[in-house]
Amino acid sequence: MEANLPKRKETRKSLRIKVISMGNAEVGKSCIIKRYCEKRFVPKYLATIGIDYGVTKVQIRDREIKVNIFDMAGHPFFYEVRNEFYKDTQGVALVYDVGQKESFDALDSWLAEMKQELGPHGNMENIVFVVCANKIDCTKHRCMDESEGRLWAESRGFLYFETSAQTGEGINEMFQTFYSAIVDLCDNGGKRPTSSMSVGFTKEQADTIRRIRNSKDSWDMLGVKPGATRDEVNKAYRKLAVLLHPDKCVAPGSEDAFKAVVNARTALLKNIK
Ligand code: GTP
Ligand code: MG
Repeated sequence: MEANLPKRKETRKSLRIKVISMGNAEVGKSCIIKRYCEKRFVPKYLATIGIDYGVTKVQIRDREIKVNIFDMAGHPFFYEVRNEFYKDTQGVALVYDVGQKESFDALDSWLAEMKQELGPHGNMENIVFVVCANKIDCTKHRCMDESEGRLWAESRGFLYFETSAQTGEGINEMFQTFYSAIVDLCDNGGKRPTSSMSVGFTKEQADTIRRIRNSKDSWDMLGVKPGATRDEVNKAYRKLAVLLHPDKCVAPGSEDAFKAVVNARTALLKNIK
């Protein structure tokens, strides 16, 4: 009998969420938001003064989501204004400019600023972060490659997208995935679903690859002192080989890092009696 009853239409409650943008001045935070909400690009730089606020409605699967967007000013001058706005945030768009390494290096200090403002009881674990590697249209000036940004993001359980506010590339996909992940988080009682956290490699692997990339010479790459013995070099090499061997490590850039370590060891052993 029950099977003949008309199905009750599932009406799920609409959701209201808060997202913020973070990142150095001039990386393109406001333009990314404008491109998504207003489908246009403003080439002239108009620095955000303190904070800009906007509301937009989006459809995610069967849900209507009301998004409160707080677009932060990146300039240090506005710290006192923006620090009020970190609390009760479900999603953060962390933006850097692929042509400006400092803006990528600054991402850690943006996370630190947020952590500090949320205080000891604030929980960063249950916030969805999306890293936007922006201005990918400026191919001539690009100095940050995809694997480095992706590695930084994914090793922290963050989403990663390459975007251009100018051409619109990546913008819709980024926002759809970002909002979708926030809806999943809300449906999961405000906790980040475990599946979105497992990326198949460890933070130790990601940090080691980054350290190898930034090392200044072969000693530094193997993590031994200049003048180390053959035994010390081999011991350091074995440890890194186990951590980064491409059969065992799926982190972006692991293959290149592994090759670099092999070459560094060969070069050092040639010169050690
Ligand atoms: P603050 O508000 O000062 O923190 O800066 P912001 O991060 O909001 O930067 P904004 O969006 O104002 O953009 C800064 C400059 O970069 C502007 O001149 C934009 O036109 C330009 N810009 C932003 N996104 C892109 C992009 O994807 N490609 C290119 N070529 N230029 C961009
Ligand atoms: Mg701005």
